[in-house]
Amino acid sequence: MSKINTPTTLIIIGITGDLTRRKLLPAIREIAKADVLPKRFNIIGVSRRDVKLEDILPVSGDNDFLREVIHLHKMDLDDPAAYKELDTLIKTFEKGADDPQRIFYLAIPPTASQPVVEQLGSTGLAKVPGTKLLLEKPFGTDLKTAEELIEHIHSHFDEHQVYRIDHYLAKEMTQNLVVFRSGNSLFKRTWNKDFIESIQIVMTEQIGIEGRSTFYEQTGALRDIIQSHLLQLAALTLMELPAFDDWQAIPAKRLQALEHLQPPQDVSSDVTRGQYRSYRHEVGNPMSHVETFVALKLFSSDPTWEGVPISLITGKALNQTTTCVTINYKRDNDGEINTLVLRIQPNEGVEVRLWAKQPGYDHRMRQLPLNFSYSEHYLGLPEAYERVFVDAMRSDRSLFTSSDEVLASWRLLQPIQAAWAKGGDRDLVIYESRSTPSDIAGEVS
Ligand code: BG6
Repeated sequence: MSKINTPTTLIIIGITGDLTRRKLLPAIREIAKADVLPKRFNIIGVSRRDVKLEDILPVSGDNDFLREVIHLHKMDLDDPAAYKELDTLIKTFEKGADDPQRIFYLAIPPTASQPVVEQLGSTGLAKVPGTKLLLEKPFGTDLKTAEELIEHIHSHFDEHQVYRIDHYLAKEMTQNLVVFRSGNSLFKRTWNKDFIESIQIVMTEQIGIEGRSTFYEQTGALRDIIQSHLLQLAALTLMELPAFDDWQAIPAKRLQALEHLQPPQDVSSDVTRGQYRSYRHEVGNPMSHVETFVALKLFSSDPTWEGVPISLITGKALNQTTTCVTINYKRDNDGEINTLVLRIQPNEGVEVRLWAKQPGYDHRMRQLPLNFSYSEHYLGLPEAYERVFVDAMRSDRSLFTSSDEVLASWRLLQPIQAAWAKGGDRDLVIYESRSTPSDIAGEVS
Protein backbone atom coordinates (compact mmCIF):
# COMPACT_ATOMS: atom_id res chain seq x y z
CA MET A 1 0.00 0.00 0.00
CA SER A 2 1.27 3.45 -0.79
CA LYS A 3 2.03 6.04 1.84
CA ILE A 4 -0.76 8.41 2.90
CA ASN A 5 0.17 11.96 2.01
CA THR A 6 -2.25 14.10 4.02
CA PRO A 7 -0.53 15.60 7.09
CA THR A 8 -2.53 14.19 9.99
CA THR A 9 -3.12 14.98 13.64
CA LEU A 10 -4.96 12.22 15.45
CA ILE A 11 -6.60 13.46 18.62
CA ILE A 12 -7.47 10.55 20.89
CA ILE A 13 -9.94 11.63 23.54
CA GLY A 14 -9.68 8.94 26.20
CA ILE A 15 -5.97 8.17 25.88
CA THR A 16 -5.89 6.46 29.29
CA GLY A 17 -8.58 3.90 28.36
CA ASP A 18 -8.11 0.20 27.98
CA LEU A 19 -9.12 0.30 24.29
CA THR A 20 -6.34 2.78 23.51
CA ARG A 21 -3.67 0.67 25.12
CA ARG A 22 -4.84 -2.73 23.88
CA LYS A 23 -6.02 -1.90 20.36
CA LEU A 24 -5.48 1.65 19.11
CA LEU A 25 -1.81 2.27 19.87
CA PRO A 26 -0.64 -1.20 18.79
CA ALA A 27 -2.54 -0.62 15.53
CA ILE A 28 -0.78 2.71 14.94
CA ARG A 29 2.56 1.03 15.64
CA GLU A 30 1.84 -1.59 12.98
CA ILE A 31 0.80 0.98 10.38
CA ALA A 32 4.02 2.87 11.08
CA LYS A 33 6.02 -0.34 10.51
CA ALA A 34 4.29 -0.80 7.15
CA ASP A 35 5.43 2.72 6.26
CA VAL A 36 1.94 3.88 5.39
CA LEU A 37 1.58 6.80 7.83
CA PRO A 38 1.99 10.29 6.42
CA LYS A 39 5.36 11.94 6.92
CA ARG A 40 3.71 14.48 9.19
CA PHE A 41 1.79 12.46 11.72
CA ASN A 42 1.14 13.35 15.35
CA ILE A 43 -1.09 12.04 18.10
CA ILE A 44 -2.52 14.27 20.78
CA GLY A 45 -3.51 12.08 23.70
CA VAL A 46 -6.20 13.90 25.66
CA SER A 47 -6.99 13.01 29.25
CA ARG A 48 -8.72 14.70 32.16
CA ARG A 49 -5.95 13.87 34.62
CA ASP A 50 -2.18 13.98 34.68
CA VAL A 51 -0.78 10.88 33.13
CA LYS A 52 2.67 9.58 32.24
CA LEU A 53 3.43 8.39 28.74
CA GLU A 54 4.78 5.07 30.01
CA ASP A 55 1.42 4.39 31.70
CA ILE A 56 -0.55 4.46 28.47
CA LEU A 57 1.84 2.72 26.07
CA PRO A 58 1.20 -0.89 25.05
CA VAL A 59 2.74 -3.26 27.60
CA SER A 60 4.80 -5.23 25.10
CA GLY A 61 6.60 -4.47 21.85
CA ASP A 62 8.78 -1.61 20.69
CA ASN A 63 7.15 1.73 21.56
CA ASP A 64 9.89 4.06 20.23
CA PHE A 65 7.72 5.37 17.39
CA LEU A 66 4.80 6.03 19.73
CA ARG A 67 7.08 7.91 22.16
CA GLU A 68 8.06 10.16 19.26
CA VAL A 69 4.56 11.01 18.00
CA ILE A 70 2.37 11.09 21.12
CA HIS A 71 1.91 14.41 22.89
CA LEU A 72 -0.09 14.14 26.09
CA HIS A 73 -2.53 16.93 26.77
CA LYS A 74 -4.57 17.38 29.93
CA MET A 75 -7.85 19.20 29.46
CA ASP A 76 -11.23 19.78 31.02
CA LEU A 77 -13.64 18.38 28.42
CA ASP A 78 -16.49 20.57 29.74
CA ASP A 79 -14.65 23.86 29.36
CA PRO A 80 -15.06 25.70 26.00
CA ALA A 81 -11.78 27.58 26.59
CA ALA A 82 -9.96 24.25 26.74
CA TYR A 83 -11.09 23.49 23.17
CA LYS A 84 -9.55 26.77 21.98
CA GLU A 85 -6.28 25.71 23.63
CA LEU A 86 -6.54 22.35 21.96
CA ASP A 87 -7.06 24.08 18.62
CA THR A 88 -3.91 26.16 19.19
CA LEU A 89 -1.95 22.99 20.00
CA ILE A 90 -3.19 21.25 16.85
CA LYS A 91 -2.18 24.31 14.81
CA THR A 92 1.41 23.99 16.03
CA PHE A 93 1.53 20.55 14.36
CA GLU A 94 -0.18 21.83 11.21
CA LYS A 95 2.13 24.79 10.70
CA GLY A 96 3.19 25.09 7.06
CA ALA A 97 1.32 21.90 6.07
CA ASP A 98 -0.84 21.75 2.95
CA ASP A 99 -4.46 20.69 3.55
CA PRO A 100 -3.87 18.96 6.88
CA GLN A 101 -6.51 16.77 8.48
CA ARG A 102 -7.60 16.39 12.10
CA ILE A 103 -9.13 13.16 13.24
CA PHE A 104 -10.95 13.22 16.56
CA TYR A 105 -11.22 9.72 17.95
CA LEU A 106 -13.66 9.48 20.83
CA ALA A 107 -12.47 6.46 22.81
CA ILE A 108 -14.86 7.26 25.66
CA PRO A 109 -18.31 5.97 26.72
CA PRO A 110 -21.33 7.34 24.80
CA THR A 111 -22.52 9.40 27.76
CA ALA A 112 -19.18 11.22 27.70
CA SER A 113 -19.05 11.47 23.87
CA GLN A 114 -22.17 13.58 23.45
CA PRO A 115 -20.90 16.59 25.45
CA VAL A 116 -17.58 16.42 23.57
CA VAL A 117 -19.39 16.45 20.21
CA GLU A 118 -21.40 19.41 21.50
CA GLN A 119 -18.23 21.30 22.47
CA LEU A 120 -16.46 20.49 19.20
CA GLY A 121 -19.49 21.94 17.46
CA SER A 122 -20.07 25.04 19.55
CA THR A 123 -16.39 26.02 19.64
CA GLY A 124 -16.22 25.78 15.84
CA LEU A 125 -13.66 22.96 15.75
CA ALA A 126 -16.09 20.64 13.94
CA LYS A 127 -16.18 22.99 10.97
CA VAL A 128 -12.42 23.36 10.50
CA PRO A 129 -11.67 21.97 7.00
CA GLY A 130 -10.22 18.47 7.10
CA THR A 131 -11.89 17.54 10.41
CA LYS A 132 -13.19 13.99 10.91
CA LEU A 133 -14.95 12.32 13.81
CA LEU A 134 -14.34 8.66 14.64
CA LEU A 135 -16.95 7.10 16.90
CA GLU A 136 -17.13 3.81 18.75
CA LYS A 137 -20.39 1.94 19.25
CA PRO A 138 -22.93 1.77 20.84
CA PHE A 139 -24.80 4.14 18.53
CA GLY A 140 -27.85 4.52 20.74
CA THR A 141 -29.70 1.89 22.70
CA ASP A 142 -32.83 1.66 20.55
CA LEU A 143 -34.36 3.33 17.50
CA LYS A 144 -35.41 6.48 19.36
CA THR A 145 -32.07 7.13 21.08
CA ALA A 146 -30.19 6.35 17.85
CA GLU A 147 -32.33 8.90 15.99
CA GLU A 148 -31.63 11.50 18.68
CA LEU A 149 -27.92 10.74 18.69
CA ILE A 150 -27.65 10.98 14.92
CA GLU A 151 -29.61 14.22 14.90
CA HIS A 152 -27.35 15.62 17.59
CA ILE A 153 -24.18 14.69 15.71
CA HIS A 154 -25.60 16.06 12.46
CA SER A 155 -26.26 19.39 14.14
CA HIS A 156 -22.48 19.79 14.42
CA PHE A 157 -20.87 17.49 11.83
CA ASP A 158 -21.82 16.57 8.28
CA GLU A 159 -22.38 12.86 7.69
CA HIS A 160 -19.30 12.69 5.43
CA GLN A 161 -17.14 13.76 8.40
CA VAL A 162 -18.44 10.98 10.66
CA TYR A 163 -16.82 7.54 10.73
CA ARG A 164 -18.80 5.06 12.85
CA ILE A 165 -16.61 2.11 13.69
CA ASP A 166 -17.84 -1.46 13.63
CA HIS A 167 -14.54 -3.24 14.00
CA TYR A 168 -16.08 -6.44 12.61
CA LEU A 169 -16.42 -4.75 9.22
CA ALA A 170 -12.68 -4.05 9.28
CA LYS A 171 -11.66 -7.63 10.02
CA GLU A 172 -9.72 -9.21 7.19
CA MET A 173 -12.09 -12.17 6.79
CA THR A 174 -15.15 -9.95 6.80
CA GLN A 175 -13.72 -8.15 3.79
CA ASN A 176 -13.00 -11.55 2.31
CA LEU A 177 -16.73 -12.31 2.45
CA VAL A 178 -17.20 -9.82 -0.37
CA VAL A 179 -14.11 -10.90 -2.31
CA PHE A 180 -14.96 -14.58 -1.90
CA ARG A 181 -18.48 -14.04 -3.15
CA SER A 182 -17.50 -11.97 -6.14
CA GLY A 183 -14.32 -13.83 -7.08
CA ASN A 184 -15.58 -17.42 -7.22
CA SER A 185 -18.18 -18.08 -9.87
CA LEU A 186 -19.01 -21.47 -8.36
CA PHE A 187 -20.37 -19.71 -5.27
CA LYS A 188 -21.43 -16.47 -6.91
CA ARG A 189 -23.86 -18.23 -9.21
CA THR A 190 -25.38 -20.34 -6.44
CA TRP A 191 -25.68 -17.56 -3.84
CA ASN A 192 -29.48 -17.50 -3.68
CA LYS A 193 -32.61 -19.27 -2.47
CA ASP A 194 -32.55 -21.81 -5.31
CA PHE A 195 -29.38 -23.38 -3.95
CA ILE A 196 -29.14 -22.29 -0.34
CA GLU A 197 -31.33 -23.79 2.35
CA SER A 198 -30.30 -21.78 5.41
CA ILE A 199 -27.68 -19.39 6.71
CA GLN A 200 -26.21 -19.18 10.19
CA ILE A 201 -24.09 -16.35 11.49
CA VAL A 202 -22.50 -17.14 14.80
CA MET A 203 -20.25 -15.18 17.16
CA THR A 204 -19.60 -16.93 20.45
CA GLU A 205 -17.09 -16.23 23.20
CA GLN A 206 -15.71 -18.30 26.04
CA ILE A 207 -15.13 -15.20 28.12
CA GLY A 208 -17.87 -13.64 30.21
CA ILE A 209 -18.30 -9.92 30.65
CA GLU A 210 -14.77 -9.51 32.08
CA GLY A 211 -15.61 -6.92 34.72
CA ARG A 212 -17.56 -4.63 32.36
CA SER A 213 -20.61 -4.75 34.67
CA THR A 214 -21.90 -1.21 34.17
CA PHE A 215 -21.51 -1.31 30.40
CA TYR A 216 -23.06 -4.73 30.07
CA GLU A 217 -26.00 -4.09 32.39
CA GLN A 218 -26.95 -1.19 30.10
CA THR A 219 -26.25 -3.12 26.93
CA GLY A 220 -26.81 -6.89 26.74
CA ALA A 221 -25.98 -9.15 23.82
CA LEU A 222 -28.73 -7.90 21.48
CA ARG A 223 -27.31 -4.36 21.52
CA ASP A 224 -23.67 -5.29 22.00
CA ILE A 225 -23.29 -7.85 19.22
CA ILE A 226 -26.48 -8.44 17.19
CA GLN A 227 -27.33 -4.81 16.37
CA SER A 228 -23.83 -4.10 15.16
CA HIS A 229 -21.45 -6.95 14.34
CA LEU A 230 -23.86 -9.74 13.40
CA LEU A 231 -26.30 -7.63 11.41
CA GLN A 232 -23.37 -6.21 9.47
CA LEU A 233 -22.11 -9.73 8.74
CA ALA A 234 -25.64 -10.64 7.65
CA ALA A 235 -25.79 -7.59 5.40
CA LEU A 236 -22.50 -8.51 3.71
CA THR A 237 -23.71 -12.09 3.24
CA LEU A 238 -27.09 -11.15 1.77
CA MET A 239 -26.37 -7.94 -0.13
CA GLU A 240 -26.33 -7.66 -3.87
CA LEU A 241 -22.70 -7.50 -5.01
CA PRO A 242 -21.55 -4.10 -6.24
CA ALA A 243 -19.81 -3.76 -9.59
CA PHE A 244 -16.39 -5.40 -9.43
CA ASP A 245 -14.04 -3.65 -7.01
CA ASP A 246 -16.46 -0.78 -6.33
CA TRP A 247 -16.01 -0.80 -2.54
CA GLN A 248 -17.52 2.64 -2.21
CA ALA A 249 -20.89 1.23 -3.28
CA ILE A 250 -20.88 -1.33 -0.46
CA PRO A 251 -22.48 0.74 2.34
CA ALA A 252 -25.53 1.37 0.14
CA LYS A 253 -25.74 -2.34 -0.72
CA ARG A 254 -25.44 -3.28 2.96
CA LEU A 255 -28.21 -0.83 3.76
CA GLN A 256 -30.53 -2.39 1.15
CA ALA A 257 -29.88 -5.83 2.62
CA LEU A 258 -30.63 -4.57 6.15
CA GLU A 259 -33.82 -2.93 4.96
CA HIS A 260 -34.96 -6.21 3.39
CA LEU A 261 -34.60 -8.10 6.66
CA GLN A 262 -37.94 -8.62 8.36
CA PRO A 263 -38.39 -8.41 12.13
CA PRO A 264 -39.30 -11.76 13.73
CA GLN A 265 -43.02 -12.53 13.39
CA ASP A 266 -43.26 -14.08 16.80
CA VAL A 267 -40.59 -13.05 19.29
CA SER A 268 -41.42 -15.87 21.70
CA SER A 269 -40.75 -18.58 19.12
CA ASP A 270 -38.17 -16.91 16.84
CA VAL A 271 -35.90 -15.46 19.52
CA THR A 272 -34.16 -17.14 22.45
CA ARG A 273 -32.42 -15.13 25.10
CA GLY A 274 -30.26 -16.51 27.85
CA GLN A 275 -28.05 -15.48 30.72
CA TYR A 276 -25.09 -17.42 32.10
CA ARG A 277 -25.63 -18.60 35.63
CA SER A 278 -22.97 -16.56 37.43
CA TYR A 279 -23.85 -13.30 35.61
CA ARG A 280 -26.16 -11.84 38.28
CA HIS A 281 -23.58 -12.46 40.97
CA GLU A 282 -20.85 -10.91 38.80
CA VAL A 283 -22.78 -7.70 38.21
CA GLY A 284 -24.19 -7.59 41.75
CA ASN A 285 -27.79 -7.46 40.55
CA PRO A 286 -29.83 -10.51 41.60
CA MET A 287 -32.81 -9.32 39.50
CA SER A 288 -30.94 -8.61 36.25
CA HIS A 289 -32.81 -9.57 33.04
CA VAL A 290 -29.88 -8.67 30.83
CA GLU A 291 -29.21 -11.29 28.18
CA THR A 292 -25.74 -12.69 27.57
CA PHE A 293 -27.00 -14.99 24.80
CA VAL A 294 -29.33 -14.41 21.85
CA ALA A 295 -30.40 -16.66 19.00
CA LEU A 296 -32.82 -15.27 16.48
CA LYS A 297 -34.28 -16.31 13.17
CA LEU A 298 -34.95 -13.77 10.43
CA PHE A 299 -36.16 -13.79 6.85
CA SER A 300 -35.47 -11.37 4.04
CA SER A 301 -38.07 -9.82 1.75
CA ASP A 302 -35.48 -9.75 -1.03
CA PRO A 303 -36.77 -12.22 -3.69
CA THR A 304 -33.22 -13.65 -3.90
CA TRP A 305 -33.60 -14.95 -0.35
CA GLU A 306 -37.29 -15.77 -0.19
CA GLY A 307 -37.95 -18.50 2.39
CA VAL A 308 -34.32 -18.86 3.51
CA PRO A 309 -34.00 -18.73 7.33
CA ILE A 310 -31.12 -16.60 8.54
CA SER A 311 -30.09 -17.36 12.12
CA LEU A 312 -27.99 -14.99 14.18
CA ILE A 313 -26.47 -16.45 17.33
CA THR A 314 -24.23 -14.86 19.93
CA GLY A 315 -23.29 -15.50 23.51
CA LYS A 316 -20.73 -15.15 26.25
CA ALA A 317 -19.39 -17.86 28.57
CA LEU A 318 -20.01 -20.51 25.92
CA ASN A 319 -18.01 -23.59 24.98
CA GLN A 320 -15.91 -21.92 22.29
CA THR A 321 -14.76 -18.61 20.86
CA THR A 322 -15.59 -18.46 17.21
CA THR A 323 -17.15 -16.24 14.56
CA CYS A 324 -18.29 -17.83 11.35
CA VAL A 325 -20.82 -17.62 8.56
CA THR A 326 -22.24 -21.02 7.63
CA ILE A 327 -24.09 -21.54 4.35
CA ASN A 328 -26.08 -24.76 4.15
CA TYR A 329 -26.78 -25.77 0.55
CA LYS A 330 -29.97 -27.53 -0.42
CA ARG A 331 -30.10 -31.26 -0.29
CA ASP A 332 -30.58 -32.96 -3.64
CA ASN A 333 -33.17 -35.71 -3.90
CA ASP A 334 -30.76 -38.46 -3.06
CA GLY A 335 -27.70 -36.41 -2.11
CA GLU A 336 -26.56 -34.94 1.15
CA ILE A 337 -26.26 -31.38 2.27
CA ASN A 338 -23.08 -29.41 1.42
CA THR A 339 -21.90 -26.76 3.80
CA LEU A 340 -19.66 -23.76 3.28
CA VAL A 341 -18.10 -22.22 6.38
CA LEU A 342 -16.40 -18.84 6.25
CA ARG A 343 -14.33 -18.63 9.41
CA ILE A 344 -14.06 -14.99 10.42
CA GLN A 345 -11.97 -15.87 13.49
CA PRO A 346 -9.99 -17.60 14.86
CA ASN A 347 -8.10 -19.73 12.31
CA GLU A 348 -9.37 -17.46 9.53
CA GLY A 349 -10.21 -19.40 6.42
CA VAL A 350 -12.79 -21.22 4.38
CA GLU A 351 -14.10 -24.75 4.61
CA VAL A 352 -16.40 -26.62 2.25
CA ARG A 353 -17.84 -29.81 3.67
CA LEU A 354 -18.16 -32.39 0.93
CA TRP A 355 -19.37 -35.95 0.86
CA ALA A 356 -16.95 -38.61 -0.33
CA LYS A 357 -16.86 -42.36 -0.48
CA GLN A 358 -15.50 -44.07 2.59
CA PRO A 359 -12.80 -46.50 1.54
CA GLY A 360 -13.96 -50.09 1.77
CA TYR A 361 -16.23 -52.64 0.14
CA ASP A 362 -19.50 -50.78 0.81
CA HIS A 363 -20.91 -47.60 -0.71
CA ARG A 364 -20.70 -45.64 2.52
CA MET A 365 -20.31 -41.88 2.48
CA ARG A 366 -18.59 -39.56 4.86
CA GLN A 367 -18.51 -35.79 5.10
CA LEU A 368 -14.97 -34.43 4.79
CA PRO A 369 -13.66 -30.87 4.78
CA LEU A 370 -11.93 -29.08 1.94
CA ASN A 371 -10.10 -26.54 3.97
CA PHE A 372 -7.97 -23.46 3.58
CA SER A 373 -6.50 -21.41 6.41
CA TYR A 374 -4.90 -18.02 5.96
CA SER A 375 -2.16 -19.03 8.39
CA GLU A 376 -0.89 -21.66 5.93
CA HIS A 377 -0.28 -18.95 3.34
CA TYR A 378 0.36 -15.70 5.20
CA LEU A 379 2.30 -14.68 8.25
CA GLY A 380 -0.35 -13.03 10.41
CA LEU A 381 -3.26 -10.82 9.41
CA PRO A 382 -3.66 -7.11 10.11
CA GLU A 383 -5.76 -6.23 13.14
CA ALA A 384 -9.12 -4.58 12.45
CA TYR A 385 -8.09 -1.27 14.03
CA GLU A 386 -5.17 -0.91 11.63
CA ARG A 387 -7.65 -0.90 8.78
CA VAL A 388 -9.93 1.49 10.67
CA PHE A 389 -7.15 4.09 10.97
CA VAL A 390 -5.81 3.67 7.46
CA ASP A 391 -9.28 4.00 5.93
CA ALA A 392 -10.21 7.01 8.06
CA MET A 393 -6.96 8.74 7.09
CA ARG A 394 -7.53 8.13 3.40
CA SER A 395 -11.27 8.99 3.61
CA ASP A 396 -12.41 5.54 2.55
CA ARG A 397 -15.81 5.08 4.17
CA SER A 398 -16.67 1.64 2.79
CA LEU A 399 -15.94 -0.21 6.05
CA PHE A 400 -17.74 2.25 8.33
CA THR A 401 -21.43 2.19 9.24
CA SER A 402 -23.66 4.92 7.88
CA SER A 403 -26.37 6.55 9.98
CA ASP A 404 -29.02 4.92 7.78
CA GLU A 405 -27.58 1.49 8.48
CA VAL A 406 -27.62 2.19 12.21
CA LEU A 407 -31.29 3.20 12.01
CA ALA A 408 -32.24 0.21 9.83
CA SER A 409 -30.72 -2.23 12.30
CA TRP A 410 -32.47 -0.66 15.31
CA ARG A 411 -35.76 -0.65 13.38
CA LEU A 412 -35.39 -4.38 12.83
CA LEU A 413 -34.76 -5.09 16.50
CA GLN A 414 -37.49 -2.81 17.80
CA PRO A 415 -40.21 -5.53 18.17
CA ILE A 416 -37.78 -7.72 20.12
CA GLN A 417 -36.88 -4.90 22.49
CA ALA A 418 -40.58 -4.04 22.90
CA ALA A 419 -41.55 -7.65 23.64
CA TRP A 420 -38.75 -8.05 26.16
CA ALA A 421 -39.60 -4.79 27.86
CA LYS A 422 -43.21 -5.94 28.27
CA GLY A 423 -42.71 -9.57 29.11
CA GLY A 424 -40.43 -9.51 32.19
CA ASP A 425 -37.91 -12.32 32.21
CA ARG A 426 -40.16 -15.38 31.90
CA ASP A 427 -38.44 -16.47 28.72
CA LEU A 428 -34.87 -15.90 29.95
CA VAL A 429 -32.96 -19.20 29.85
CA ILE A 430 -30.32 -19.46 32.59
CA TYR A 431 -27.42 -21.50 31.21
CA GLU A 432 -24.25 -23.00 32.61
CA SER A 433 -20.89 -21.63 31.50
CA ARG A 434 -19.39 -23.69 28.67
CA SER A 435 -22.83 -24.52 27.22
CA THR A 436 -23.18 -24.84 23.47
CA PRO A 437 -25.69 -22.64 21.60
CA SER A 438 -27.88 -25.68 20.96
CA ASP A 439 -27.92 -26.51 24.70
CA ILE A 440 -29.64 -23.15 25.13
CA ALA A 441 -31.67 -22.61 21.98
CA GLY A 442 -32.03 -26.14 20.59
CA GLU A 443 -30.88 -27.00 17.06
CA VAL A 444 -31.07 -23.87 14.92
CA SER A 445 -31.94 -24.32 11.26
C1 BG6 B 1 -17.08 -5.71 21.21
C2 BG6 B 1 -18.07 -6.10 22.27
O1 BG6 B 1 -17.67 -4.86 20.28
O2 BG6 B 1 -16.61 -6.88 20.55
C3 BG6 B 1 -17.49 -7.12 23.23
O3 BG6 B 1 -18.46 -4.95 22.99
C4 BG6 B 1 -16.89 -8.30 22.49
O4 BG6 B 1 -18.48 -7.57 24.15
C5 BG6 B 1 -15.94 -7.80 21.41
O5 BG6 B 1 -16.18 -9.10 23.42
C6 BG6 B 1 -15.43 -8.94 20.56
O6 BG6 B 1 -14.51 -8.44 19.63
P1 BG6 B 1 -13.42 -9.40 19.00
O7 BG6 B 1 -12.77 -8.58 17.95
O8 BG6 B 1 -12.51 -9.79 20.13
O9 BG6 B 1 -14.16 -10.56 18.47
